Amino acid sequence: MTDMEKTGRRSQAWFGAAGRGGMVYRSWMRSQGFGHEVFDGRPVIGIATSASELAPCNVHLTEVAEAVKRGVWQAGGFPLLFPTMATGETLMRPTAMLYRNLMAMEVEELIRANPLDGVVLLSGCDKTTPAMLMGAASVDLPTVMVTGGPMLNGKYRGQDVGSGTHVWKFEEDLKTGRMTPEECFFAEGCMARSHGHCMTMGTASTMACLAEALGMQLPGSAAWPAVDMRRMETAQAAGQRVVRMVEEELRPSRILTREAFEDAIRVNAAIGGSTNAIIHLTALAGRVGVDLGPEDFDELARAVPTLVNLMPSGRYLMEDFCYAGGLPAVQAELLRGGLLHGERITVTGRRVAEDVADAERVNPDVITGLDAPFQPAGTGTAVLRGNLCPDGAVLKQSAASPHLLTHRGPARVFDSPEAYHAVADDPDLDVDENTVLVIRNAGPRGYPGMPEVANVPLPTRLLKAGVTDMVRICDGRMSGTGYGTVVLHVAPEAAVGGPLALVRDGDPIVLDVPHRTLRLDVPDAELQRRREEWRAPEPRYTGGYTWLYTAHVEQADRGADFDFLRGSRGHDVPRDSH
Ligand code: FES
Ligand code: MG
Repeated sequence: MTDMEKTGRRSQAWFGAAGRGGMVYRSWMRSQGFGHEVFDGRPVIGIATSASELAPCNVHLTEVAEAVKRGVWQAGGFPLLFPTMATGETLMRPTAMLYRNLMAMEVEELIRANPLDGVVLLSGCDKTTPAMLMGAASVDLPTVMVTGGPMLNGKYRGQDVGSGTHVWKFEEDLKTGRMTPEECFFAEGCMARSHGHCMTMGTASTMACLAEALGMQLPGSAAWPAVDMRRMETAQAAGQRVVRMVEEELRPSRILTREAFEDAIRVNAAIGGSTNAIIHLTALAGRVGVDLGPEDFDELARAVPTLVNLMPSGRYLMEDFCYAGGLPAVQAELLRGGLLHGERITVTGRRVAEDVADAERVNPDVITGLDAPFQPAGTGTAVLRGNLCPDGAVLKQSAASPHLLTHRGPARVFDSPEAYHAVADDPDLDVDENTVLVIRNAGPRGYPGMPEVANVPLPTRLLKAGVTDMVRICDGRMSGTGYGTVVLHVAPEAAVGGPLALVRDGDPIVLDVPHRTLRLDVPDAELQRRREEWRAPEPRYTGGYTWLYTAHVEQADRGADFDFLRGSRGHDVPRDSH
């Protein structure tokens, strides 16, 4: 009997192989100083790190990885650290989202191609968390995620400042003269004062919380600040746990069930999470064969009040959320209200209800209760339909202005975000506060990559006149830290001939969020005439990754994954390399 037959571990197809093959697999590994005992059939755990100086939110993951390694050794496993690409939100152009699918492909292929029995995923910045989960889900080896944790609260002149959220506020203050350029320069540094990802409830914090809500990271992990030593503790515990998960054959496919996604959607509503979660959860669900559509997000979330009072919808930040009890406190409260599936299992091997049994809401101002929630049920993210968005669009109500949730106004159309920015400061720009700003060609194919450009700043003249919000409509996304009455993710996008492509200046647009509709008040016959005139843009890319992306990316309502990446491709041991 070979060692692989004894343990059933795929790593033994490499390290337990007889003859020249096994020698090659072992010998080069021993150059790192490992003794031969590491090849004895113990679980080999890959630690995928997205640490990179080009992704500042993830740079400290190298230290987190050391804690994971310790845990793996302690539990009798053999840890091997490997780097993945990092989709840093702040630097990558045209948008980190363009590269989420590439990172997911890389993670998937690296796991499958190597002698691994289990995986720990180290992520942080927005897209790195869904990318890693998507890739790992398509391999389906036992997997634990450890997110890198949020930065400490930003502090400027005695006030909390939130990453992302305050960028927009500072920009408005600068434009209206409430802040000097020098003050603004100083404030930048105050906003990002430690390692970690954005500490607002933006996309990174949201996805970290949802990884925990799905059951893919240890209870309580999402909230520990990046520099809190308890993050190292939780990382070490994750290393220990993944070794047991290999023995238990506890795989993502057993954790990422329909019920898990329903819970994640409800948790997203309760934390006031990012609209980007809709895209990422839909894409992840596609990897594990769970069918999620836009309406699931609206219908499941409708009964859930927003419990967490964090920016951009509220006033606190992730550090406060951590001290207030973190995600388990939110889950416990939702369970109490019958709003979660308490019976499903998580990476702990226990039921959700057991995982959060000891959770406590320490500060009810930060994590409110169901009896007196921060925002009532039904005020979460709405999914709209209508002749302007036949496949859906979303609007984050908690970040919008109540008076604009039902609105009729004339369209002012811009064929790109740049076209708008070029005139936004123009004192003669022909718009007023009733105008609906339409920003198009910012979808998955059109931009490409569906960037976070939808919440364009208001025209300077109107800002100076005291206008605080206007309806904006876009086929792109909005940063999870953004705010405003912004209709996002319009599908199909303009670049594939969606109705957004047919809007002309002056067309009346009717937004009715209570009835979940978005309509272009133009006769069907006229729209049909415009549709016949519409010409698809010339393909801009003839090669490279961007060509692959535009050829295969799906629309927003399908999660903007590649059509050929849906589903799992398993973890069979590939053919021998020698
Ligand atoms: Fe990386 Fe916000 S920019 S998490
Ligand atoms: Mg972002």
